[in-house]
Amino acid sequence: MYDLIILGGGPAGYNAAENAAHGGMKTLVIEERALGGVCLNEGCIPTKTLLYSAKIYDYAKHGTDYGVSFGSAAIDHEFVVNRKDKVVKTLVGGIGAKMKHAGVDVVMEKATITGKDAEGFKVQAGDKEYTGKQLLICTGSDAAVPPIPGLREAVASGFAMTNREILDMKKVPGKLVVIGGGVIGLEMASYFNSIGVDVTVIEMLDHIAGPTDSEISKILLKNYQKKGVKFLLSAKVTSVGTDCVNYEKDGKAESAPADVVLVSIGRRARTAGIGLENIGVLTERGAIVTTDEGRTNVPGVWAAGDVNGRSMLAHTAYREGEVCINNMLGKKDKVRYNSIPSVIYTNPEVASVGETSETIKEKGLEATAQSFTLKYSGRYVAENEGGDGIVKIIIDKEHKKVLGVHMIGSYASEIIYGAAMMVEKEMRVDDVKKFVFPHPTVCEVIREGIFQL
Ligand code: NAI
Repeated sequence: MYDLIILGGGPAGYNAAENAAHGGMKTLVIEERALGGVCLNEGCIPTKTLLYSAKIYDYAKHGTDYGVSFGSAAIDHEFVVNRKDKVVKTLVGGIGAKMKHAGVDVVMEKATITGKDAEGFKVQAGDKEYTGKQLLICTGSDAAVPPIPGLREAVASGFAMTNREILDMKKVPGKLVVIGGGVIGLEMASYFNSIGVDVTVIEMLDHIAGPTDSEISKILLKNYQKKGVKFLLSAKVTSVGTDCVNYEKDGKAESAPADVVLVSIGRRARTAGIGLENIGVLTERGAIVTTDEGRTNVPGVWAAGDVNGRSMLAHTAYREGEVCINNMLGKKDKVRYNSIPSVIYTNPEVASVGETSETIKEKGLEATAQSFTLKYSGRYVAENEGGDGIVKIIIDKEHKKVLGVHMIGSYASEIIYGAAMMVEKEMRVDDVKKFVFPHPTVCEVIREGIFQL
């Protein structure tokens, strides 16, 4: 008998498990694939490992811009993939050790909720049944594979891949066609473009990077067009063949030849086959409906991470898991979804938090958005020949509160948490003016911008 059974050992699940155990709850995690979930095994960490190798290679290729010659630089893709496996193995081992250290039981099986009786919720895993007073569902998400003619066959034959398969692909394709110009599509396009692959991105919207502020998304597009990535915007994929992707653009039927196709058009919550119907957990468009405290409609059943379809980011998952446990332990807590930062690990990096120029219009907010070149930063100029990065700061007109910060340029991923604190704490421009930013850094541009607002 457990106080808490957690279904899924990804960022939401393993972090929540540790917190629950520290809070005195007897906790069981059931995971069917590998601890660490998508983030550690086939998402955030593997991608960042590949992108770091690409970054070093790019430095070497462009060293002469800074007076440095490396001879003829080369990248060994197979080595990069093998190194990625090593990094993943180390980190997954680390999660296992963490669970052990916290006293969390881990069962490696597929879990199915079978019902509830006076003792608690019943969960079947392999040939054993477990009982938990409470349940936390953290089963994550899968890559969406929509019913585009030929796509499912292409995935089955290995011609089309999702993030899972492409991260293990050891051969270097001549031509890669990416369907979907969102986060995964852009990060993988960035890697394969860096290592010399001919990359075409087909995106149905008229812009890349989804909800990213449009000014930032345009700069990112320009950067990658300059690097040679071909973007087909406002293009509708009509079918996938055995050596091409067919699409329609401006009313014309066209075809993009491919050696490999990446499907990155979003993710779907993993709610099928886990027995939610046996206890009546409510879902909407396939995702579990949760409150900001992580509660589902069934008392004692909670959900965190991609499975609730709300933000689908590993760091949101951590926080959601934490919030669920705090509430279970009687400490009132909730997730503030408007101050969650997001990052696209392209080169240049993109990082955002809060309202964008588009959302202030949609919501009718009385706010102003102003952009500042990163060239205000001496360090940025020193390190970025021809760099065109910016930071955009959005404040409300009445109180001059920071509502959003968006950045494209070096270190953006590491800088954004400071901006997220400003948004989360509803800081005003005058509050931020009192902060001392270290010099010389790229983050100083936020200070520079704040003084001009
Ligand atoms: P996404 O939602 O970011 O982008 C999907 C893109 O595909 C959108 O631009 C959409 O307009 C386009 N699209 C949809 N159907 C299409 C079609 N039939 N033809 C052409 N384009 C089509 O989804 P993505 O990139 O698959 O990423 C999935 C999730 O993983 C996201 O929620 C993201 O937050 C998360 N993720 C986060 C990362 C990070 O934080 N750095 C890295 C990778 C993934």
